[in-house]
Amino acid sequence: MKNILAPSILASDFTKLGEELAAIDRAGAEYVHIDVMDGSFVPSISYGMPVIKSIRKVTNRVFDVHLMIAAPDRYLKDFKDSGADIITVHAEACTHLDRTLQAIKDLGCKAAVALNPATPLCSIEYVLEKCDMILIMSVNPGFGGQKYISYCTDKIKKLRAMLNERGLDTDIEVDGGITLDNVKEILDAGANVIVAGSAIFKDTKANTEKFMEILA
Ligand code: DX5
Ligand code: ZN
Repeated sequence: MKNILAPSILASDFTKLGEELAAIDRAGAEYVHIDVMDGSFVPSISYGMPVIKSIRKVTNRVFDVHLMIAAPDRYLKDFKDSGADIITVHAEACTHLDRTLQAIKDLGCKAAVALNPATPLCSIEYVLEKCDMILIMSVNPGFGGQKYISYCTDKIKKLRAMLNERGLDTDIEVDGGITLDNVKEILDAGANVIVAGSAIFKDTKANTEKFMEILA
């Protein structure tokens, strides 16, 4: 499977977001991971449609929009119209997950489900075929710069085995606490889409290149 880097702009310098996007783009990152937080599903608030719409004008990379918001159905079309290519919703935030995934697909976006660290894989057992990607959270969502929760490696392995059993080659994305030191372990476990925020932004181009080397 192809490995993909998805830098999370939550950790970027917002005073020069355009330059940050150019740097990850030049270094070869295929996705831009955009963390939307509502202060309800998660404790913090980040950014939303206006920011996405604005940066859509400066890059053609895939917009991987991670919705950490309650009842996301209310906003799916707004995020699509703002420029989202992939829309990820949390299983814990959707009362009717099957319907929500279908709604994302009907909009023409790729549909993904995120699971918090404590949420079991069986919660998505019946909708696996409907997912273009599954996001395993390896920190409790809400903030960048947290430490990778080690039991998540086992969860990634189990999910890859579950997908293989069904003959699915669905992307597994992992998000939270990923660094140049632990990314290999995460890839080896079966993940192929890597989110990294604080380990990338600062010396943005050089760090992106280092991740790209490991992912190659
Ligand atoms: C956490 C977010 C992550 C976060 C990753 O709630 O979903 O995408 O920005 O940041 P790092 O890589 O710093 O853990
Ligand atoms: Zn995220």
